[in-house]
Amino acid sequence: MNCILRGVRVIDPLARRDAEGQDVWLSEGRIIAIYKHMGEGNLPVIDLTPPAGRTPVILCPGFIDLHTHLREPGDEGAETLHSGSQAAAAGGFTQVLAMANTVPPIDTPERVKEATFRAVAASVQVLTGCALTKSLQGEELVEMEACAAAGAAAFSDDGRNAFSPRLLSEAIGCAATIGRPVLIHPEDEETLAQVNNVQGPVQRCPLRPVEAETRAVDFALRALAHAGKGHVHLQHVSAAASVEMLRRAKEGGANVTAEATPHHLGMWLPFANEPHPPGLLKVNPPLRTDRDREALVQALRDGVIDAVATDHAPHRVEEKALPFDRAAPGMIGLELALAICITLGGMGGDWIPTLVDRLTIGPFRVLGPSSGVREPRLRIGEAATCVLFDPAAEWTVEPAHLRSASQNTPLLGARLQGRVLMTLVDGALVHHDRQRLPWPAPTGAETVRA
Ligand code: NCD
Repeated sequence: MNCILRGVRVIDPLARRDAEGQDVWLSEGRIIAIYKHMGEGNLPVIDLTPPAGRTPVILCPGFIDLHTHLREPGDEGAETLHSGSQAAAAGGFTQVLAMANTVPPIDTPERVKEATFRAVAASVQVLTGCALTKSLQGEELVEMEACAAAGAAAFSDDGRNAFSPRLLSEAIGCAATIGRPVLIHPEDEETLAQVNNVQGPVQRCPLRPVEAETRAVDFALRALAHAGKGHVHLQHVSAAASVEMLRRAKEGGANVTAEATPHHLGMWLPFANEPHPPGLLKVNPPLRTDRDREALVQALRDGVIDAVATDHAPHRVEEKALPFDRAAPGMIGLELALAICITLGGMGGDWIPTLVDRLTIGPFRVLGPSSGVREPRLRIGEAATCVLFDPAAEWTVEPAHLRSASQNTPLLGARLQGRVLMTLVDGALVHHDRQRLPWPAPTGAETVRA
């Protein structure tokens, strides 16, 4: 790769740069220069200049996902570090935070160390998420300091919410001293057990009312206030009522942040085309109403919701084929995130700079500098970590073309807009659309990583 990409819009939120009609000189995984008009000399030029009135192709820092399930160890039939990181690269994500609800869970310093070591082989940077409580049971905190020292970027019992407000408050205080956020899956398990009339696990229970979420948000905000320090991050917020609580808490000065998933920003029930099997629509928290969806989109725009996070949750076919009330919850998201936000969430057009912000510096700020997350910047002359995408390109979601080892999305066969053309991580080409970027096969420094 040694060429000029012509006619690109360059967005670098931290540098406050947003300029159309740029020529980008790429060489051996580095951005050598960005100019308005570059004399090409002997360099090949790939002209990406859009026809009049069409949105240009965008170059920006790589996306950061705060919420990825990679299933390794324990459920490699659903996803592996390799397949999941390939899916991340195809979706423009260059850093992902892996959730700890693997089998066994990542809940000891040794497991954190192993997971962090394994992650080095991935094609994107995988940050290790560590459980907040042992086995995610909500009874005993993990050794937070030792886990952070072993490489834990953040703490979350994602998938579960079994801790008491008192334990949560203790965890928030401890995390504050080591500069890590506490990420919370806000679905109150007691409420879920009651409405579903069960005594055992509630993860697959189908009835998940808004009150389960608002109650958990309330507990989390109280625990934060009680701790008197620290940072709480609410995962996959899904309801308008939670957005209001969040807005008020932020106005009151609470150190709370939140994410919304592409599926909650783009889909609602009843779903236009009932997928087969119906379990493909099952996700925790569930898709809600269009009013909830609109409130999330507005909150993302206002900055009340800080980041888009995929909650990429791959599951094996047989887990999704079960009757709805027993099917595994979750959807894949890494490869679809950008297109869902643009096509179904209405975040194309003048939304694009905000969307880029919420996919790059939004999640960067949530994780904070001690986590090990890298600053999303386009740096001239350095090995690049960036994404090139075409917000207007249309494509069909075909199972055979997905890099994830799982295909559990209700959008199979859907026609979407917004396509990643290239992803670079530390100068390595980890994803590349050969048709749109027809440069010679990579060699040497450009070799595609793992
Ligand atoms: C996630 C999973 O499958 O691990 N499922 C889901 O429906 N979102 C867990 C979670 O994020 O809640």
